[in-house]
Amino acid sequence: MTKNIALLAGDGIGPEIVAEAVKVIHCLQQEFGFDTELEAAAIGGAGYDQSGKPLPDETLALCERADAVLFGAIGGPQYDELERGLRPEKGLLNLRSSLSLFSNLRPAILYPQLADASSLKPDLVAGLDIMIVRELTGGIYFGQPRGIRKLANGERQGFNTLVYAEHEIERIARSAFDIAMLRDRKLCSVDKANVLEVSELWREVLNRVAGEYPDVEISHMYVDNASMQLVRAPKQFDVIVTTNLFGDILSDTAAMLTGSIGMLPSASLDENGKGLYEPVHGSAPDIAGKGLANPLATILSVAMMLRYSLQQPNLAEQIESAVGNVLDQGLRTADIAGTAQSASTSEMGDAVVTALRALAR
Ligand code: IPM
Ligand code: MG
Repeated sequence: MTKNIALLAGDGIGPEIVAEAVKVIHCLQQEFGFDTELEAAAIGGAGYDQSGKPLPDETLALCERADAVLFGAIGGPQYDELERGLRPEKGLLNLRSSLSLFSNLRPAILYPQLADASSLKPDLVAGLDIMIVRELTGGIYFGQPRGIRKLANGERQGFNTLVYAEHEIERIARSAFDIAMLRDRKLCSVDKANVLEVSELWREVLNRVAGEYPDVEISHMYVDNASMQLVRAPKQFDVIVTTNLFGDILSDTAAMLTGSIGMLPSASLDENGKGLYEPVHGSAPDIAGKGLANPLATILSVAMMLRYSLQQPNLAEQIESAVGNVLDQGLRTADIAGTAQSASTSEMGDAVVTALRALAR
């Protein structure tokens, strides 16, 4: 059956990196018989420019119809002065919420070919393979009430609300336990239960769900300690599950451990495995349009899409092998090149396509 993929390139380097991922999808169509249709729509600043909204109605409708969404990046300095509801970030947040993409998978994998790129000592990160499962549609990102209000004395006060209902904790817990079952069966839940009531409930529900997964070893860690442990001894972790805000912060740390945030894909899934796939890095407006961006995180996001939403694990492996082969050949975009000469965005995309073709024959 034909699979429909929505392409949301967005802003900054988004269009350049998504263009390379599209080359890879075309190669899957031509060489591997992958039956798919692609349809593009505007989001973020591009959505605002096109229709005055960061998530245009027809973009949301397209994503609702699609089997999966491939997302580039959003944001840029020209949009920073817009009111909050019109900013590019709001487009992504609304899309996550409208599609109920509550489970955000952020792998942090160190490619052996890039061991030198990490800022940590090689032995601390060699073989690193962590999966962060971040709750994505709740918590302080979406809690009401929120705003900036005037106090009686005339001073202004900013306020946000951190809330998690039991069903929200339960479903992200199950999602994380399911993933742990496919890996080393170690799950660390990160919270701030020594201070926050929300975390107290979070921990209680995690322990309850743990009863359904006797083969998974569950542990709990306060977020301040977790941030320290991630840079002290990151290989102690297999799967980490945490709230929206803590996950936002810890996933950037974990990504940087690998030294190559330009390599890391992510998936945001709903209850039925429909998902949005995007590189972990952002829109990098400073290098947009220069052919410097690394397209591999977006290409690897296509691999995640094939695995988690489109039931094509073999094609996912082909892409991952092709990327590995290209790294073995020594090809590097500027972000991972060190002092070596670097390839452009499209040279890297073309090299992956060539490697993929070689695997098909
Ligand atoms: C991320 C980003 C987003 C977030 C922004 C762009 C809204 O930082 O995906 O990690 O905070 O979730
Ligand atoms: Mg972030």
